[in-house]
Amino acid sequence: MVQQAQPRPLLNRRLADLGTTIFAEMSELAVSTGSVNLGQGFPDTDGPEQIARAAADAILSGRGNQYPPGAGIGELRTAIAAHQRRFYDLDVDPGTEVLVTAGATEAIAAALLALVEPGDEVIAFEPYYDSYAACIAMAAGIRVPVTLRAPDFRPDLDELRAAVTDRTRLILLNSPHNPTGSVFTRAELTAIAELATASDLLVISDEVYEHMVFDGEHVPIASLPGMRERTVSISSAAKTFSFTGWKIGWITATPDLVTAVRTVKQFLTFVSGGPFQYAIAEALAMPRDYFSGVAGSLAARRDMMCDGLAAAGFEVYRPAGTYFITTDIRPFGESSGLDFCRKLPYQAGVVAIPSVVFYDNAEAGQTQVRFAFCKKVEVLAEALARLSALRPG
Ligand SMILES: Cc1ncc(COP(=O)(O)O)c(C=O)c1O
Repeated sequence: MVQQAQPRPLLNRRLADLGTTIFAEMSELAVSTGSVNLGQGFPDTDGPEQIARAAADAILSGRGNQYPPGAGIGELRTAIAAHQRRFYDLDVDPGTEVLVTAGATEAIAAALLALVEPGDEVIAFEPYYDSYAACIAMAAGIRVPVTLRAPDFRPDLDELRAAVTDRTRLILLNSPHNPTGSVFTRAELTAIAELATASDLLVISDEVYEHMVFDGEHVPIASLPGMRERTVSISSAAKTFSFTGWKIGWITATPDLVTAVRTVKQFLTFVSGGPFQYAIAEALAMPRDYFSGVAGSLAARRDMMCDGLAAAGFEVYRPAGTYFITTDIRPFGESSGLDFCRKLPYQAGVVAIPSVVFYDNAEAGQTQVRFAFCKKVEVLAEALARLSALRPG
C-alpha cells in the first residue's frame, strides 16, 4: 500500500513557533466584551491637524502620488538629517545616509535581512517587540536573548558580554524599551558600545520612542565613540506624531549600511507613503515645544496609570519612557499573565497583554502584564475605575 505523505505545513518552519496571535485574540476580546482596550500600542487621538492637512494637500496637489524616489523624498531625508542634528548633534548626509521605510517595522526587517547571514547570532534584550524574533527567523539568524529583569529592567552587562560568541553578528537594541519602559543610561550604552567595538559587532538601534522619555535622557548609541560607523539607527513617525497608520519610518547609517538595507527594502516594498512623506518632513521641523509636549502629556498619564494600577492591587514597574507600563499580577494570587489577560475582559472590562509573549525565557515574564497608556485621559480613568473592582487575593 502506498503511504500517504504527510501534508507539508504551509508556514515556513522558521516562523512556525512564533505564536504571536495574542494581539488579534485580545483585540477580538476587547470588541466582543466591550472592554477598554489597553492592549495594542496605538493612540486614540490623531496627530497634529496641520500635519494631517499637509498629507491631504500633498495628495490633492499631486505630490507623492506616484512612486517616490527609492531612498525617500528629498524633503523628508533632509528633515530627518536636520532632526538628528537638532536633537543629538549628529551629522547625517541626507543624500547617502538616510533611507525612508514603510514604518520602523520594515526598517527592522530590511536591516536584519541585509546584515544577517544564516546561522549568524543576533543578541537582543528580551522581552522584545514581537517583530524582532520573526525578522531574525526570516533572516535565518539565531536569536540570543539577554533578559531584562524586574523590577528595574536594567541591561545586565556581564550577561551581555557572556552572550557574545564568534558567531555574533549584531546587537539589536531598543531604548526606550517596549514593553518595559526602560531607558538605557549613557553609561549602559557606553558599555554596550565598547563591547560592540571590541568584538566588531554591528548594532541595530530601534529608537521609535526617542521622544517619549520621562526620566533620564535618550542617547542614540550612534552618538557614542566608534558607533557611528557600525550602527543602523531606526525611528518612525508613528509614535512621535501619532500617525501609526501612515507607516513612515527611516534609518540613518553610513552610506555602506544604508546601501545594504536599501537593497532589501527595494524588494520588500520598493517605496511607500509618498504624500505622507511630505507631511512628515513638515512634522519633523515642528518647534521643540511639540516634542516636549508629547513627553509631558504622556508623563502625566504615566503617573495617573501607575498610581491607579498600584491602587487596584498590581505591582507596578514604573516606566521611564514609552507608553507602556509593565505590572505584576502576583498580588492577586495569580501565576499566569496569559490566563489573567484572558479573564480580565470578563472580570473587569479591560484588555491588557501578557508580557510572556515578548520573552523566550518564559519564566521571566510569566506573571507580567503590559498596559498601554497612549489613550485619552477619560479612557484611562474608565479603565482604572473598572480595574479597581479587582481585589488582590
Ligand atoms: C519597539 C518598536 N519598534 C518598532 C515599532 C513599529 O513601528 P512602525 O509602526 O513605525 O512600524 C513599534 C510599534 O509598536 C515598537 O514598539
